[in-house]
Amino acid sequence: MSRSVLSVCDLSAEEIAEVVDRALKTKQQAERRGSQLSGMTGLLIFQKPSLRTRVSFELAVTNLGGRALYLSPPEVGLGERESPEDVGGVAGRYCDLIVCRTFDQTNLDRLAASSGVPVVNALSDWEHPCQALADVLTIREHGGTAGRTLAYVGDGNNVVRSLAIAAASVGMHIRIASPSGYELDQGSVNEASRRAAASGGSVSLLSDPVEAVDGADVVYTDTWTSMGQELQAKQRLEAFTGYQVDARLVAQASRGASVMHCLPAHRGEEITDEVLDGPQSVVLDQAENRLHAQQALLAWLFD
Ligand code: CP
Ligand code: NVA
Repeated sequence: MSRSVLSVCDLSAEEIAEVVDRALKTKQQAERRGSQLSGMTGLLIFQKPSLRTRVSFELAVTNLGGRALYLSPPEVGLGERESPEDVGGVAGRYCDLIVCRTFDQTNLDRLAASSGVPVVNALSDWEHPCQALADVLTIREHGGTAGRTLAYVGDGNNVVRSLAIAAASVGMHIRIASPSGYELDQGSVNEASRRAAASGGSVSLLSDPVEAVDGADVVYTDTWTSMGQELQAKQRLEAFTGYQVDARLVAQASRGASVMHCLPAHRGEEITDEVLDGPQSVVLDQAENRLHAQQALLAWLFD
């Protein structure tokens, strides 16, 4: 039975820690390669653009001895030209792994149900689990996770959904500040809270960015307009007024707090140049860690 990672919830708290430990160990070694995917093919099906996820997954598959094939948004027509079940069934006959970036989370479930090979979520409208693994790794490297406070300021979107559940799994205190109508959904807050209760962490949903950031160890934000929401850009810009991560907001955090952003950033909207390019920003470590976290995840899946 193949194991898929469609949601961060597909990984227990122990498994998240195990994958992050593994990523940290591999990153520290001079020889960062493995053979878990030797002779295998990983198919990357992307329905949205990508820099980090596409490059890091191609490299992760290659570093583990496999070969990566990339299909760009216009090529497959997942759910349009062909049903996810048919795409999965066919791809599973050629390939040993499917990495998929899509809109609707159910496309991933349908691919996984028909392919017979592991499917990994490379971002959907609902979640971005591989980003969350890289983020936990980055926080581990920059001061640690358990008992520390992560403030997320912005949209209750795919990134914070996976991040809150992953960070709660490793004992962090998470405060999320979003404007009314853009909060993280209650089901995800409940899952994060359930995991936090087991790990010694906590989760609070707030509306005031200053209250969220006050004394925090990590300040995190993401775009106010995610891929696929472009038609709402104007109304979102208005709704998020006052939620920008700027130097004044970061000054409310603990001294030396890390500033995180999954990128791509909309500079001058959710974050200022000064903060994104400033000394507290760890966004390039975060981007690099996509490779280490995903390589560790694939090695773990295929061990
Ligand atoms: N953070 C992230 O997923 O970036 P890309 O969209 O470039 O892959
Ligand atoms: N929330 C953003 C993340 C991009 C990596 C989006 O879905 O577009």
